[in-house]
Amino acid sequence: MCGIFGYINYLVPKTRGEIINTLVEGLQRQEYRGYDSAGLAIDGLNDGEVVIYREVGKVAALKNLIKEANPPTENVIDAHVGIAHTRWATHGQPLRKNCHPQRSDVRNEFVVVHNGIITNFREIRELLSSKGFQFESDTDTECIAKLAKFIYDNNKEHNLDFSQLAKLVALELEGAYGLIVKSTHFPDEVVATRKGSPLLIGVKTEKKLKVDFVDVEFPDMNVTEEVNIASATNRNLLNVANTDNLRHSQSRAFLSEDGIPMATEFFIASDPAAVIEHTKKVLFLEDDDIAHIYDGELHIHRVRREAGASTIRSIQTLEMELNEIMKGSFDHFMQKEIFEQPESVINTMRGRIDFEKKTVQLGGLRSFLPTIRRCRRLIMIACGTSYHSCLATRSTFEELTEIPVSVELASDFLDRKSPVFRDDVCVFVSQSGETADTMLALQYCIERGALTVGVVNSVGSSISRQTNCGVHINAGPEIGVASTKAYTSQYIALTLFALSLSDDSMSKKSRREAIIDGLYHISSQIKEVLLLNDKIKELCRTELNDHKSLLLLGRGYQFATALEGALKIKEISYMHSEGVLAGELKHGVLALVDENLPIIALATRDSLFPKVISAIEQVTARSGKPIVICNKGDFKDHDLQTLEVPATVDCLQGLLNVIPLQLASYHLAVMKGFNVDFPRNLAKSVTVE
Ligand code: F6R
Repeated sequence: MCGIFGYINYLVPKTRGEIINTLVEGLQRQEYRGYDSAGLAIDGLNDGEVVIYREVGKVAALKNLIKEANPPTENVIDAHVGIAHTRWATHGQPLRKNCHPQRSDVRNEFVVVHNGIITNFREIRELLSSKGFQFESDTDTECIAKLAKFIYDNNKEHNLDFSQLAKLVALELEGAYGLIVKSTHFPDEVVATRKGSPLLIGVKTEKKLKVDFVDVEFPDMNVTEEVNIASATNRNLLNVANTDNLRHSQSRAFLSEDGIPMATEFFIASDPAAVIEHTKKVLFLEDDDIAHIYDGELHIHRVRREAGASTIRSIQTLEMELNEIMKGSFDHFMQKEIFEQPESVINTMRGRIDFEKKTVQLGGLRSFLPTIRRCRRLIMIACGTSYHSCLATRSTFEELTEIPVSVELASDFLDRKSPVFRDDVCVFVSQSGETADTMLALQYCIERGALTVGVVNSVGSSISRQTNCGVHINAGPEIGVASTKAYTSQYIALTLFALSLSDDSMSKKSRREAIIDGLYHISSQIKEVLLLNDKIKELCRTELNDHKSLLLLGRGYQFATALEGALKIKEISYMHSEGVLAGELKHGVLALVDENLPIIALATRDSLFPKVISAIEQVTARSGKPIVICNKGDFKDHDLQTLEVPATVDCLQGLLNVIPLQLASYHLAVMKGFNVDFPRNLAKSVTVE
């Protein structure tokens, strides 16, 4: 939620127009993270002037606003800092006053873009109001800009540098944040810090980079010595660190190899997709890191010293390609991602399955498998679609490993303060690797000593870094807010996990081999299902589009498919839809059924097929006319509309059955005229609780 972006050029001459374009494009690449409003801040033409542009709506609206404002675009700038933001509203409605950047005062001395939630913003706001600050917005972010000014104004005699100031601000903040700050007091410098929200820095330079992190000691950051702040408050500001301590906490990040200033561009972003067209060299910030960029150098500082905290940061090379984050010939990212599934599922399996020997190797788990096999139970924890992928694969784990498995919604798991033990293994499934509820559940399990496993798509994300071990699903960037290819790749990655966990069991050998054979054919079978596209579109037009509500019936392996299909349909076509366990129909839901209520039944062949047939009969007996997703030829004798899908092993059938539902949700949304890739009120990466 919310995408932030910063662009810094040093000794790389750019026109103002190019700088604005880079900022706007950085936002467009992250628009899926929130699209309630957008804004940016750049230097004005006069010294010490910062100009802010902000507009409600999507980035395109900001672009129009800037065009109308007609700022000078031709002048060339050698060194410059610009910051930008696309918003998913948490505090304050999507009004212009609540757009980011938020500022400290009318002179824009400090301007801030922020992703996350400051939970103690009311206290800070109250405190600063009592010191004479006038708040202009309803956001939590504004208190950060004003707090920076307050601390700056009251510590002039200490000559704080920008990172020291950022540290003092960060020490006051509670909650989650990824933020970038620009200031008229520190021209051509920028600070960025994070806690619980993702932030990375892309670096582009012609020279070879020298990374200077290994074994850097962060000196003691004990914040006890009192300094004389003119308007001391009753909060931590009373006990601000002495400035010597602050100064010594600096750690070099990287410079040019020969120490000579080098022409460099830096790109700060919430998501690698925003920097990939500029550079593949990135550094992922850790919680409590403060990045301070000036004179073409990046320096990392720590907000506070914690025993055992890593002092090593490395520059990584991103593997994604630009075309992976473009729509190509498709109308929408979601459509592209649905049709990418024959390929994305192969990428999930690539290098992990030997189809001849029928073996599975997951490098990220190998050394942990003996411990996992001995665990008391496996707890799978996730949200939304990722939760459904856990439900879809739970019985495969139970059957192959004979380990008790529970599947938890992260928020509910935390609400219940569920007991977790040292001999539990907790598996965290997340496309983004940044979902706040899942992250909090991860912290909770780490504190209780459980072994943690991450199953994530985003390489370098918080969940992938903070778990003990894990599997990347390798689905490639997923931009559409409604998750599609990540679901099928999570499903496969979890199945591979269950297969490798059980590869010491002779009694499961033939079952394991049947599943591996099934996986061999899955990509071409998905291609076959995608050929149903036109038929599904027509069914949506004739049978579903005019209705307000839809039931999806499934049982056993297909209950997860019903839940996932219902979520897809409601989130992008805004049509009420409900996934119902077919066995529960008679316990209440049947009362809804009549000749008008559309129903989709998942009736592919598995051990529960006869029971699903009986549920369908309960529906048809009440004049219901379900559309049936079935294997070829199975419903020839019924007077029902069918969508025939190829048959595979029972535990993989959900991979094929979910695709008609993804396509149906897509077509319904398009028919209703809704914005498929940007459903209202939602955002791709939910980094708030
Ligand atoms: C639905 C959807 C969401 C996410 C959920 C968890 O299409 O995308 O339900 O699955 O917000 O997100 P991740 O997987 O990033 O943790």
